[in-house]
Amino acid sequence: MKRRFAVAAALLASLTLAGGAVYQLNHLDESIEPKPPALATPALLARGEYLARAGNCMGCHTRRGGVPYAGGRAIPTPFGDVFAPNLTPDLATGLGQWSEADFWAALHNGRSKDGRLLTPAFPYTNYTLVTRDDADALFAYLRSLPATAQANPAHELRFPYNTQPALALWRALYFRPAVFQAEPSRGAEWNRGAYLSQGLGHCNACHGARNSLGATQGPDDFSGGMLESLAWYAPSLHDPAEASVAAWSPSALRQWLKTGSSPSASALGPMGEVVLGSTQHLTDADLKAMAVYLQGLPQHSASEPAPKRPDLALREQGQALYGDHCASCHGEQGEGKAAAYPALAGNRALLMQNPANLLRIIQRGGFAPATASNPRPYGMPPFAGILSDKEQAALASFVRNAWGNKAADVRPLDVLQLKTQRVD
Ligand code: HEC
Ligand code: HEC
Ligand code: HEC
Repeated sequence: MKRRFAVAAALLASLTLAGGAVYQLNHLDESIEPKPPALATPALLARGEYLARAGNCMGCHTRRGGVPYAGGRAIPTPFGDVFAPNLTPDLATGLGQWSEADFWAALHNGRSKDGRLLTPAFPYTNYTLVTRDDADALFAYLRSLPATAQANPAHELRFPYNTQPALALWRALYFRPAVFQAEPSRGAEWNRGAYLSQGLGHCNACHGARNSLGATQGPDDFSGGMLESLAWYAPSLHDPAEASVAAWSPSALRQWLKTGSSPSASALGPMGEVVLGSTQHLTDADLKAMAVYLQGLPQHSASEPAPKRPDLALREQGQALYGDHCASCHGEQGEGKAAAYPALAGNRALLMQNPANLLRIIQRGGFAPATASNPRPYGMPPFAGILSDKEQAALASFVRNAWGNKAADVRPLDVLQLKTQRVD
């Protein structure tokens, strides 16, 4: 009896300790320096607007066809949908009653005005790196928007992910508030690029590898992430076989970030939205800084899987389909057409181990983003309703192994597994 009591007491004590630790880890770095609010000069507002673009705040905080920044867009996560709230200064439904300090706590600590812990679908794991000055400029800009009354939909997260204790535990494990620390051994340009890419640009919100609880290994890991609910793969920026840009010419990279296309690559799907909403608006100096940082990322390759036996019948079926549906644009030899249709021969976008993007492009077609400097890009029609799963697999297997290309065949089962329920 005594023993059982001792065990229970010990258990209770360790639970209390663990609870205390979780509580403490959720209240780090929360002292907020009182400061008079920044004067909303036109220069401050312009800077805030620019930073909002660098962070693509509008991309998430705007419903399709809705008022900019009035929220309501569902952000799909493997744990359910989270709705990005209204950031306009409406008193009842937006940030109308927020102070600069409240806003800082959201960006830096991931905590709402009422003390509620925010879900990391809001990428504060990156935005925590943003400086207080930049946060204040962002807030001043948001305050200058027209107030729009639009109530925030309730999140649709599954249990237990919809509870505050689960979030507190997650944060204790994976989140620490931290402002960006410049690397003194690197130049100012590299540091500016790192600040933008790791912080506001939140590149690794997509390009970071995530564990089963959705955590990345920190804002400077870009080793590739599957966007499960969109069925797109954000390839590794460290891997020359995926999305490393170390070998690109600096001007091609700047052009790609500005326009969404370069002679060797186009920004597709979710990446197109990033170029459209964010990087196309960056100044040449910031694009240059970002390029310096991205080109200097450590390089490592994923291990090659053991080769499988080729499915020659599947590829043969794909060859015929290619002639019928694709060759008119991409060329008999997959050579493409400069400045109009990308070459498919030697194109790493379709040779990655993960065939998700190739299938997504076949299914949905698409346009490179229509940016100011490339207003009318050529488009590709969708084939989802025209080609069966088996035909898509055949076509993908063919283009991955024609004209000197070499990659594992894509099976009809892969196509099935990547199908999503979402159609937005
Ligand atoms: C990837 C999508 C995404 C991006 C990009 C994004 N947000 Fe959000 N944001 C969200 C979601 C989702 C929430 C809701 C989180 C929650 O309630 O748990 C949120 C919440 C917030 C909140 C808290 C509001 C409240 O009522 O508690 C603020 C403030 C905010 N975002 C500001 C910004 C700013 C500023 C930017 C750009 C620098 C930005 N967000 C970019 C998705 C995003
Ligand atoms: C919303 C998710 C998302 C975000 C945020 C994002 N990316 Fe991407 N990115 C993708 C996807 C998906 C692809 C694959 C499709 C493609 O090639 O365009 C991609 C592709 C790329 C490529 C490969 C280019 C090529 O075709 O070889 C580069 C480089 C890249 N992203 C850089 C960045 C940088 C830099 C940022 C931050 C400013 C960023 N991405 C933010 C999703 C994202
Ligand atoms: C009407 C012309 C046209 C047809 C037909 C067409 N495409 Fe495309 N394709 C394009 C254009 C334009 C792009 C660039 C789109 C973009 O940047 O979003 C593209 C992009 C692609 C890409 C991405 C390449 C990259 O560098 O990111 C792949 C893969 C692809 N097409 C495969 C196919 C296959 C397979 C077929 C046949 C089922 C096909 N295309 C049919 C015009 C076409």
